[in-house]
Amino acid sequence: MRVAAILVAAGSGSRFGGSMPKQFALIAGKPVIRWAAEALAPHATLIQPVGEADLIEPALAGLAHLACVPGGATRQESVYNGLEALEAFAPDVVLVHDAARPCVPPLTVPELLAALEDFEGAIPAVPVADTLKRGEAGIIAGTVPRQNLYRAQTPQAFSYETMLALHRRGPAPEATDDAWLLEQAGLPVGLIAGSEENIKLTYQEDFSRLERALVTLSPRVGTGFDVHALEPGRKLMLCGIEVPHETGLAGHSDADVGIHALCDAIYGALGEGDIGRHFPPSEATWKDADSARFLRHAAERIAARGGMLANADVTLICERPKITPHAQAMIARLADLLGVEQSRISVKATTTERLGFTGRQEGIAAQAAVCVLVP
Ligand code: CTP
Ligand code: MG
Repeated sequence: MRVAAILVAAGSGSRFGGSMPKQFALIAGKPVIRWAAEALAPHATLIQPVGEADLIEPALAGLAHLACVPGGATRQESVYNGLEALEAFAPDVVLVHDAARPCVPPLTVPELLAALEDFEGAIPAVPVADTLKRGEAGIIAGTVPRQNLYRAQTPQAFSYETMLALHRRGPAPEATDDAWLLEQAGLPVGLIAGSEENIKLTYQEDFSRLERALVTLSPRVGTGFDVHALEPGRKLMLCGIEVPHETGLAGHSDADVGIHALCDAIYGALGEGDIGRHFPPSEATWKDADSARFLRHAAERIAARGGMLANADVTLICERPKITPHAQAMIARLADLLGVEQSRISVKATTTERLGFTGRQEGIAAQAAVCVLVP
C-alpha cells in the first residue's frame, strides 16, 4: 500500500502571533513542522509539504520529502494543492496532517490505516469530557449535550482517489477538516482514539504544553574545582563580585575561582570539556578577562543544547575573607549571569581549620556541583 502524507504549512498563524508562522517555531531546537514530519515519516512513503519553500526547505533539511507546493487562501485549498501534486505518484492512501501538530502518537497512523480496511476515511478524535455551554455576550445561552461529541484531530486518513475526487468538486469554505467532505458525500468515516498530547499549536499557551509533551529532559550532574593563589596588589573577585580584602587572586584572567569552578561543573555536566578548552590560557585575549564572560558562555552552551540549569551549588574554601556577608550578592550576580532565578543558586563557604594552603591564606579554592536538564 502506497501511503502519501500531505503536510499543510501555509497558514499565517494569526492566533499565535510572532514574526514567523507558528509551524516554524522551535521546540528543543527543532521546528514544529519537522517534529510533525518526523512523526509521519515512518508510516508514509511520500511526504508532500504545502507552503512557502523558503521556510519549509530549511526546516525539513535532510528529511526525504517531495518538492513544496504553494498553499492556498484557505486550509482546504492548501490540501487541494497537495492532492493534485500527488496525482503523478498514484498513492492508495493519503494522510492529511497539520504542520502545527508536532506530537503525533506512534500508534495513530497504524490505527488509522487499519480503519481504512472498513471505511474510505478515518480520523483520530477525543471524546469531549467537559460540559459544553453555548454562550452569548458573556451569558450562558444553553447547555449542549456532550454525548457522542468528539474533538477531531489530524492526521486524517483517506482513500486518495476518493479524497481527490471530492476536492475536485470545488471549494467548500465551511470545511474545517477533510473528513467533512466525506460526511457531506454520505460516506462513513471511522473514528479512532485520539490523544490529549496531539495538541495543535494555536495559541501561545499551547507552546509550553507541547514542550512538556515532546521533550523529556534528563538530569546530568557536573562538578568543578579550582584554586588560585592570593597575592598583594590584585583585587579579589569571587563569584562575580569584588570583595574588599588586602590581597587578591592571581591568574591569567581575573582569577575568579568561584566562577571558574562553576563553569567547569557546567561544561562537565554537558560533557563539553573544561574552561581551558573553551578559553585557552595561552591566548592573550583572556588576560585579566572578566570571568563573567566565561559563565555567560557556559549558560549559552546549556541553551544551545536545549537544556536548563536545575541548580548550582558553589563552595568557597578559605580562611578569610568571611564570605557569608557577601553570599547573597554573589547568588544574585551568578543568577543574573546564568539567566535563572536566584532560588536555583547556592553559594556557601568553609574553612580548612587553618590547615593547608587555604588555612595559611596562600590561596582560595572553590568547588561547584550543578544539575543540568537536557533533552
Ligand atoms: N493552513 C494552510 N493553509 C491555509 C491555512 C492553514 O496550510 N490557508 C495550515 C496551517 O499552516 C496549519 C493547519 O493548516 O498547519 C491548521 O490551521 P490553523 O491551525 O488554523 O493555522 P493558521 O491558519 O496558520 O492559524 P490561524 O488560524 O490562527 O491564523
Ligand atoms: Mg487557520
